[in-house]
Amino acid sequence: MAAEAPASTMYGTARGSPPTRVGTVRSKLSPELLDYLASDPMLVDETGPGFQQCSDYPDVPGHTYYEGYFHSQCDAAPVWSVNPRTGSNFHKPAAGIRLRAFLELARRNFSAHIESAIKDLRKNRSAETLLSLVRAGKLFGDCAVQVHYGDAIEPPGRLGWHCDAPNSLIHMGIALHGRRALHCKLKSAIDGDVSHTVQWQEPGDVYVSSPTCFEHAVQYPECCHGSRVIAVQARLLVDEAELYGGFHGVNQERDWCELMDALGPAISSFDKQLPSLEDVKGMVHQIATDKADAVQTEPSIVWQRPSHEAMQALATANEFEAAGDLTQAKHWIIEATRLGHSLKKEHGGWK
Ligand SMILES: [Fe+2]
Repeated sequence: MAAEAPASTMYGTARGSPPTRVGTVRSKLSPELLDYLASDPMLVDETGPGFQQCSDYPDVPGHTYYEGYFHSQCDAAPVWSVNPRTGSNFHKPAAGIRLRAFLELARRNFSAHIESAIKDLRKNRSAETLLSLVRAGKLFGDCAVQVHYGDAIEPPGRLGWHCDAPNSLIHMGIALHGRRALHCKLKSAIDGDVSHTVQWQEPGDVYVSSPTCFEHAVQYPECCHGSRVIAVQARLLVDEAELYGGFHGVNQERDWCELMDALGPAISSFDKQLPSLEDVKGMVHQIATDKADAVQTEPSIVWQRPSHEAMQALATANEFEAAGDLTQAKHWIIEATRLGHSLKKEHGGWK
């Protein structure tokens, strides 16, 4: 029988032996902020630009799952970074401005706290990479939006147990709609037994933890589209070189234990106070004023974004350009234009 999830620092077993410390902090959006974030125009249609249909549970064909891959940097230009599902670089588009504003405020709240916790770790490649990412403003910079509905994904047989890649060393989960349960396998003491905990996520629930370091799975109750689960997973914004080369050192287990001994308690002691609606609206205004994406402040204009096909054509052009194949890049730019792409910067172009 799964137990209620405790709040204190625990130990995860996903990074070898000995187990690593895991910190978790939980909080809740105010009802007004939840309503503001959940009604971001980007979230209204999970079949829109940036989203794709996924299948994690092929034996449950009645379960529908869409996922969108975005970044939460203030600048709306696409960021060449890892798709957290495929593990390959692509030009990641910007999330809606409300979500970016919220995550920018969270980034500002937490970055200094993390930096002070890990900055003195020496000869620890994982810690050095994490520190450089935090200093570069990449904390909570990768923003995946997950939408689930239809048949249930329930224990015991259907849960997909896994541990995340190192881009989830600091991971924020935000529940915006519907309900789901996070199942975790954790130890309460370094030499204790692994226990199975379960934490239901209701709309507005927010947690920060390190699912890179412990096994976990998500339960989705049966629901219709109107009650669908919408959850945001905010990870470190990394490219392939950082993800695959930045977290491996000579003394791998020692490095992980040392890093998590510092990071786990730091996460547990995060300030639970989340930004207010006024804070987030203020940041939306600041981003829209500072950057060339004021268009995203008005939902009616968001729908003027290029079609999914046009966005994909331009993304392909950008990939060829990055690879140095300018002939193919030009071909796909022409195709993107034919499909109605404006080539504007906020949609992945340069104008
Ligand atoms: Fe996960």
